[in-house]
Amino acid sequence: MNLTLKIWRQKDAKSQGKMVDYQISGIEGDMSFLEMLDVLNEDLISKGEEPVVFDHDCREGICGSCSLQINGEPHGPDRLITTCQLHMRKFNDGDTIYIEPFRAKAFPVVKDLMIDRSAFDRIQHAGGYISVNTSGNTMDANAIPVNKHDADDSFAAATCIGCGACVAACKNASAMLFTSAKVSQFALLPQGQVEASERVMAMVNQMDAEGFGNCTNTGACEIECPKGISLENIARMNREYLKASVKG
Ligand code: SF4
Ligand code: FES
Repeated sequence: MNLTLKIWRQKDAKSQGKMVDYQISGIEGDMSFLEMLDVLNEDLISKGEEPVVFDHDCREGICGSCSLQINGEPHGPDRLITTCQLHMRKFNDGDTIYIEPFRAKAFPVVKDLMIDRSAFDRIQHAGGYISVNTSGNTMDANAIPVNKHDADDSFAAATCIGCGACVAACKNASAMLFTSAKVSQFALLPQGQVEASERVMAMVNQMDAEGFGNCTNTGACEIECPKGISLENIARMNREYLKASVKG
């Protein structure tokens, strides 16, 4: 395949960025999207030009770092996959592909396509944990009975990889889907009850402090989420927040 790439280039957080055109050839359908960018970068390096900076780590849909806006969609045109799992067979010879970083005030651009998602870390640090003493006295996993549906829903919420596609898809740049997944995975389990009120208040407050927008129920986040995190988690987080607020 021969392709035209229009890629966001930005020197650093303070500089103004712009779209730059690149021609690329010899791309196979079996290549992943990141491998296609590797080919581009090898070509740029061989010409003495600066390679395009983009985030990646696991390249198998686990770490959530490969956050690219491809033709206006977080993680590109496929569903339930990350950018590293996207294959070039989804594109056609002669296509023009627009590649940008995820856009949100709370996700400032570091360089080119790399963004700073540490706002998510700070939300997680605010309450996304349980206090359990695991030093030498771990209990048997089956000692506390857990309802099967709750266990399944908790596990589903826990599959959130913190990629930020939900924020990038939302017209308000809301982080409600991410935060609600992190709240839900504990709210559904007995182990999460001890700090439930403090957790939801602290995580929602941190989410607001980071400058994410509010949820207006468009559902774009759920559609673009590579892990299929359900909007039901947002409803659960709202209930948890209300409960905690009444409790005071
Ligand atoms: S909820 Fe989905 S889109 Fe949002 S950070 Fe988690 S995995 Fe990514
Ligand atoms: S590089 Fe880890 S999810 Fe894509």
